[in-house]
Amino acid sequence: MIGFMGTGKTSVGEKLAVRLGRRFLDTDCEIEKTTGETVANIFARLGEKVFRAEENTLAKLLADKSNLVIATGGGMVLNPANVALLRKSGVLILLCAEPDIIYERVKRKKTRPLLAGGSLKENIVILIKEREKAYRAAADYCIDTSGQGVEQVVERIISVLGDRIK
Ligand code: S3P
Repeated sequence: MIGFMGTGKTSVGEKLAVRLGRRFLDTDCEIEKTTGETVANIFARLGEKVFRAEENTLAKLLADKSNLVIATGGGMVLNPANVALLRKSGVLILLCAEPDIIYERVKRKKTRPLLAGGSLKENIVILIKEREKAYRAAADYCIDTSGQGVEQVVERIISVLGDRIK
């Protein structure tokens, strides 16, 4: 799963993994496990560059793995090297959603440093605009999760993937 924060990568990925009988992995959680720091702390104490380096290290590790469902952090595929690595063994499914819906989903969680400060709604709109092209270029499939329940999105992914997951 790739795409912007709040598009449902983790909740959809978890359910999809159960449906497919595969292991689920969330790249932010993996980075938190290996560094012993929260994502917010890595950004605050060490800076975004260090976090992006951790993402790249993890992408290298994941490139040879199979039978996983992976939820990536929203910035993972902004690095073309990570896209190439994840493509080696994976299908990249872009989840997207309307900015207003993303706002509703993320407004209570204060864990995303890139959305902190100023107007949350504006930050979402600006960042999506900046990233949209890169997300679409990285994606094998795009799925809009606006107004969709997790189960519906999972079913849609399974039907879109068809034989690729058999
Ligand atoms: C980020 C998204 C976050 C996390 C970090 C940076 C981004 O993950 O990796 O805060 O650059 O979009 P989620 O997409 O899971 O919120």
